[in-house]
Amino acid sequence: MEKADFIWMNGEFVAWDDAKVHVLSHGLHYGTGVFEGIRCYETTQGPAVFRHREHLDRLQRSAGLYYLEIPFSTEELAAATRELISRNDFRSCYIRPLAYRGYGEMGLYADSAPIDVMIAVWPWGAYLGEAGKAHGIRAKVSSWRRISPAGLIPHAKASGQYLNSILAKTESAKSGYDEAILLDERGFVCEGSGENIFIVRDGQVVTPPHTASILDGISRRSIIQIARDLGYSVVERDVARSELYLAEEVFLCGTAAELVPVREVDDHPLGEPGEITRHISEKFEDALYGRAPEYAEWLDPVEVDDAEPQIEQVERITEAPGR
Ligand SMILES: Cc1ncc(COP(=O)(O)O)c(C=O)c1O
Repeated sequence: MEKADFIWMNGEFVAWDDAKVHVLSHGLHYGTGVFEGIRCYETTQGPAVFRHREHLDRLQRSAGLYYLEIPFSTEELAAATRELISRNDFRSCYIRPLAYRGYGEMGLYADSAPIDVMIAVWPWGAYLGEAGKAHGIRAKVSSWRRISPAGLIPHAKASGQYLNSILAKTESAKSGYDEAILLDERGFVCEGSGENIFIVRDGQVVTPPHTASILDGISRRSIIQIARDLGYSVVERDVARSELYLAEEVFLCGTAAELVPVREVDDHPLGEPGEITRHISEKFEDALYGRAPEYAEWLDPVEVDDAEPQIEQVERITEAPGR
C-alpha cells in the first residue's frame, strides 16, 4: 500500500511509520473493532468526502451494537479526517477510521480495556480494477454463507466479522474469479464480499432487503435514490440464486469498489454492462465527483492548500534537463 505522511491516533497526528499498537491489544486477539471505508474525491469544487456523516454515523452505530463507546463525537472524527487529508496533502484518497478495544485487559468481557481510535488515509484505486468497472467482473457464488443474524450482526461493520468475507473472497480468488457473491443462511442472494448487489429483471431494479443479512451499504442507499430519481422502479426483495443467471443486468456497489457491473456469474454470461447499469453508474459518478447539483449535500468539502504538493515540485526539479 502507498504510505501517507500522517495517521490520526486518539487525537494526535502521528508519523505513518510510528502508528503502532501493543501486541496484547484486545482487538488483535478477538476482532473487537468497528471500522468504516470512506472515500474523498477530487470534485469540481475541490476535495470532498462522500457521505461523510452517514459513514461516521454507521461507525457509531456499529460500535454501539458491540457495546463499544467511541470516546470522540461524530463531529470530532469528521474534523480530524478533514484535517488529516489536508495535512497529507491529498486531493482524493481512501479513508479508514477504526475504533477497537486496545491494550489493558484480556478475556472476553474486557470492559476496562480502552477504546482506541485511529484514522488513516491513503491513495487507493478502484478495488476491483478499472477494467472491471468498465467491462464488468466475473463473480462466483461462494460456498460460504454470509454471517447469520442468529450468530453475529450483519448490520455492524465489525472487524471480526470480516473473517467471513475473507473466506469467501479467498475462495473466489483462488478459483480464478474477481469476486464472491454470498447467499444468506436461507440460501437467498445477500451481497458481494465487500459490496451490495443489484440485479435488473424485466426492467426493474431489485436488491436484497435488510432481512437478507446485508450490510446497510451507503453506496446501496445512494444508488436506490439515484435509480428512483432517474425514474426506475426499485424494489427491495429476496433474490433467488437462479435470478443472478436470468437477470438482464447485475452490478455490485461499495465504497472501495464503487459501482461495478458483473459480466458473468458462475460461468453464466451476462455480457457487457447493460443500459440501466450504465445510466445509474454515470449519475452515481456525477454525484461522487460533484457534477450532480441535486446530490451536492452528499459531499463534505475539505480545505486544502492550493499550492502544488511539495513532492511533485521536488520531482519536477530533479527531472529538469541539465540537472
Ligand atoms: C460486507 C460489505 N457489504 C457491503 C458494503 C458496501 O457498503 P458501503 O457502500 O457503505 O461501502 C461493504 C463495504 O463497506 C461491505 O464490507
